[in-house]
Amino acid sequence: MSNYHIKHLEEYFKVYRKSVREPEVFWEEIAEEHFIWRKRWDNVLSWDFSKPEVKWFEGAKLNITENCIDRHLRTKGDKTAILFEPNDPNEEAQHISYNELSERVNRFANVLKSKGVQKGDRVCIYLPMIPELAVSVLACARIGAVHSVVFAGFSATALATRINDSDCKMVITSDGSYRGAKTIDLKSIVDEALEDCSGVNTVLVAKRINSDINMVDNRDEWLQPLLDAASDDCPVEVMDAEDPLFILYTSGSTGMPKGMVHSTAGYMVQTAYSFKNVFQYRNDDIYWCTADIGWITGHSYIVYGPLSNGATTVMFEGVPSYPDFGRFWEVVEKHKVTQFYTAPTAIRALAKENLEFVDKYDLSSLKVLGSVGEPINEEAWHWYNDNVGKKKSPIADTWWQTETGSIMIAPLPYVTPTIPTYASLPLPGIQPVLMDENGKEISGNQVDGRLCIKYPWPSMARTIWGNHQRYKETYFSAFEGKYFTGDGALRDAVGYYRITGRVDDVIIVSGHNLGTAPIEDAINEHPAVAESAIVGFPHDIKGNALYGYITLKETGEGRDHDNLRKEINQIITEHIGPIAKLDKIQFTHGLPKTRSGKIMRRILRKIACNETSSLGDTSTLLNPEVVQAIMDNAL
Ligand code: PRX
Repeated sequence: MSNYHIKHLEEYFKVYRKSVREPEVFWEEIAEEHFIWRKRWDNVLSWDFSKPEVKWFEGAKLNITENCIDRHLRTKGDKTAILFEPNDPNEEAQHISYNELSERVNRFANVLKSKGVQKGDRVCIYLPMIPELAVSVLACARIGAVHSVVFAGFSATALATRINDSDCKMVITSDGSYRGAKTIDLKSIVDEALEDCSGVNTVLVAKRINSDINMVDNRDEWLQPLLDAASDDCPVEVMDAEDPLFILYTSGSTGMPKGMVHSTAGYMVQTAYSFKNVFQYRNDDIYWCTADIGWITGHSYIVYGPLSNGATTVMFEGVPSYPDFGRFWEVVEKHKVTQFYTAPTAIRALAKENLEFVDKYDLSSLKVLGSVGEPINEEAWHWYNDNVGKKKSPIADTWWQTETGSIMIAPLPYVTPTIPTYASLPLPGIQPVLMDENGKEISGNQVDGRLCIKYPWPSMARTIWGNHQRYKETYFSAFEGKYFTGDGALRDAVGYYRITGRVDDVIIVSGHNLGTAPIEDAINEHPAVAESAIVGFPHDIKGNALYGYITLKETGEGRDHDNLRKEINQIITEHIGPIAKLDKIQFTHGLPKTRSGKIMRRILRKIACNETSSLGDTSTLLNPEVVQAIMDNAL
């Protein structure tokens, strides 16, 4: 029996039990039946979380683009693979068939080769949501180059840090991007970043906004003429199962972002499997995930998961508010979208607007709704369910992470009954556990604790690029023998999981993971700033917003606070990007510290959240007197 597509709840339980009893048999059957391999594996799994080392399908040989493209050509060559919907609704959508995608990826792969890119080299992709982004990702994979996509909203400094960390030798970008009514000059951001990146010798530039940009001799080249001249036949590089497919950076608790390294075979198998089941994907569906390919959601559920299932995946360049707040729903009607996958922050923003923006469109094509990136609050869940899904499209609240590669906990629409705010049950093959603060597993239901995963899954990140020790410390040290997610969760009476939020120094703002340390590092570069601490506080649309407590140096005393606030947000924008700007900045004469000198963020968080009645014991602080002063001046 194939376990690939689960259609009933009893079947889910049966398959789930099997996946726990015999995880290797479970994954092996899926791998065997649904993919093409150049050589079969010798060993399904070897693992040791103490090192940590995990290998899936060792010995197998494959290329993921053969699975995402080539194998569909015979039966689905004319089917739309990528449906590109531009920023401007008056610009025509592009239906890129599997045949055309194949041709474009092959040409692009040959261009990469002609520029000296080889198997194992890292290529940085800094592009807006245009077809070239998906094509360049696949072109890298075709020749075995490791892609590192950097979200095109990141600043020059953030881009340079990522390029240097993984030693990219090439950057692929565009002359600019459209974002609602604005255009963004991406190329000059790249130029600025490359002042600090001596290892990059080639920049390929896609044309999107036809702006007059600076091209550096012997480094920058327009992409299109190179593609036109390239052959449309590029044989795949045959990869080992465990060869790295890509690096994707995520924020961490120190200033350096973590370059999560994903493998080839395991990632392919699990993104495909989870896509099929979580979206209950069927052949003629039109699937749309609104994420940017710069994030893991885009990698796994715009590119690899859908394409390996031969699906039609919509790629949207625009924003939900342009030309008005009906844009998402207009696109759903226009393309008869069947699965729609977005983030709670977008739902909350749209729910604030007039319902007419939703009601004037025909959304009857929708069968499945998805949510990802942060906990979805009850109100947003109901708005989505009532007004978008018309109470007939189940909502898959999908919990997962950059590090997990694939969706881990989610209801399977039409299979698992949904409960608002609950990500519900683990997917087959995933073994979540809750741990208490003393490192003990909490058994039973109606309990809460720290969410860990106790058994390896194929699409887990294998390491942090260049820093395996940090990988071990971040994910495998808090709870021995387990992967620690950094999230808190509760398990209800029937075993459903509800993710309650981060328990570390990561704050999720508008669905974006932001480490507090990199933001503090940026702020501390301001010449007037002595010290800073960032915490999150609840925000109607963003979920969380950032509150900064900042102490000034003597030289900064007397400076105009509003000007300082602007300058501080400007520095953050330059170092990280506008997504990390602070909503509130309070200047203080000191920060509460423990006797060992650590800032007590717990107290600052409570003040920011206006929960001062339960501050807890402050007497152990080195400087308890600052707490009252901070409370008196709280914003
Ligand atoms: O805190 C969890 C939250 O997002 C974190 C992962 O962020 P990132 O690596 O950027 O990946 C986001 C897209 C997969 C998690 O540790 N998170 C993600 N999905 C959910 C969620 N929190 C609650 N419910 C979710 N469905």
